[in-house]
Amino acid sequence: MLWVKAFHILFFTSWFAGLFYLPRIFVNLAMVPAESVAERERLLLMAGKLFRFMTPLGVIAIGLGLWLWFGYGFAGGWLHAKTALVIGLVAYHAWCGMLLAEFREGSSIKGHVWFRFFNEVPVLALAIICILAVVKPF
Ligand code: HEM
Repeated sequence: MLWVKAFHILFFTSWFAGLFYLPRIFVNLAMVPAESVAERERLLLMAGKLFRFMTPLGVIAIGLGLWLWFGYGFAGGWLHAKTALVIGLVAYHAWCGMLLAEFREGSSIKGHVWFRFFNEVPVLALAIICILAVVKPF
């Protein structure tokens, strides 16, 4: 069980590196002047590679979590609350994919301030999920 949990922690940490950094790239993309085509293309390339890289990391992190849950009989309200938050994170991840498509089409209308707030969502989610997983308050 400890091996599964060790890799669970490794993969969700790696997934979160992407969830933290991709919206930061969006902040920069939202600030790129229209005439800076090379910079825009460079940021889009980085965002595309990061999104492709972080997606399987999230899938494996969740798969290992489900293995812990159903393979080792964990139970409790904390696990349901945690899973609900993780479903929210999956939606956030998918939303990042849609925002990336908007940037590629040049149709993104959201400003860099909006993306700065958007960037804080995974921080809050990580804090609550870790408290639920370690403290198990209910
Ligand atoms: C649906 C997805 C997930 C499920 C079903 C799940 C389930 C679990 C289970 C059953 C454990 C073992 C708890 C224990 O040993 O006391 C665990 C550990 C942990 N999980 Fe998840 N997890 C999921 C996703 C995540 C994500 C996305 C994060 C990070 C944000 C996360 C953070 C943790 C942490 C920090 C631990 C270690 C807790 C400890 O050792 O006390 N999990 N997870």
